[in-house]
Amino acid sequence: MPGLQSFARVSSEVRRDVRAARDRDPVARAASTGEILATWPGIQALLAHRVAHALQARGVPVLPRVISMFMRTLTGIEIHPAARIGAGLFIDHGAGVVIGETVDIGDDVTLYQGVTLGGTGFATGKRHPTVQDNVTIGSGAKLLGPITIGHGAKIGANSVVITDVPPNSTVVGNPGHPVRVDGRRVEGPDADWIHLPDPIAEAIQALSNRIGALEGRVAELSESDPQPVAEVRPLRTVRGTNPAGG
Ligand SMILES: CC(C)(COP(=O)(O)OP(=O)(O)OC[C@H]1O[C@@H](n2cnc3c(N)ncnc32)[C@H](O)[C@@H]1OP(=O)(O)O)[C@@H](O)C(=O)NCCC(=O)NCCS
Repeated sequence: MPGLQSFARVSSEVRRDVRAARDRDPVARAASTGEILATWPGIQALLAHRVAHALQARGVPVLPRVISMFMRTLTGIEIHPAARIGAGLFIDHGAGVVIGETVDIGDDVTLYQGVTLGGTGFATGKRHPTVQDNVTIGSGAKLLGPITIGHGAKIGANSVVITDVPPNSTVVGNPGHPVRVDGRRVEGPDADWIHLPDPIAEAIQALSNRIGALEGRVAELSESDPQPVAEVRPLRTVRGTNPAGG
């Protein structure tokens, strides 16, 4: 019977979604299934999307969009009813997530708050990203256009990605670019996009050197002690434990 089959499918998807929350959100580990269903906005948005998507596929008018709009108001997560989402998606925190109409998401994908899977303009047809299995997309990342994010890739928080991403790579920055592929640093003369020159720090350093030289000269002429020269320190990335995972 199709009704029973749909019910069995949806309940198995819900169980997998709840398991995904437990696996990937440390806070959810101690929570009961009921608590997760009642208070995890990512789970609620996904559950409603699965219903809206099934209605849309059966050609039901308006209602799928109404469900999507209602869930957006409730959770801050907007998922177009036509978006295709695999099993085990986990949307952590949720607010500000946008998933466009022609998005395809594989299995076991993780999205943090503020992620946009959107289009680049007014194109029609397939115009949103395809995200393969086991991808993690950091908070605030914007993935735009009909690009493919290869399986196992990690997209750094606040990246803007407009080109395909190789499997098992880490992509960061704006524009997003790979900094690790298969766990190895990307080699090549133009590969270091993170340690870019800092023109403001360089200008301030040059001024500081000038002031130091002038102060030294004044001290010499007035026979007083020279002042210590100000030190300009460029901003550095702090290394630490892997911050992925909430
Ligand atoms: C990208 C990310 C997944 C780490 O992936 P990883 O493969 O373990 O990569 P690493 O931590 O080794 O970082 C690779 C390089 O990218 C840099 N980098 C990492 N994240 C970055 C980001 N978001 N923006 C810019 N550069 C970043 C690192 O400093 C490192 O630089 P290095 O080559 O000079 O050492 C992680 O940094 C990230 O952004 N996670 C998102 C987490 C999130 O959104 N949490 C929200 C919780 S509420």
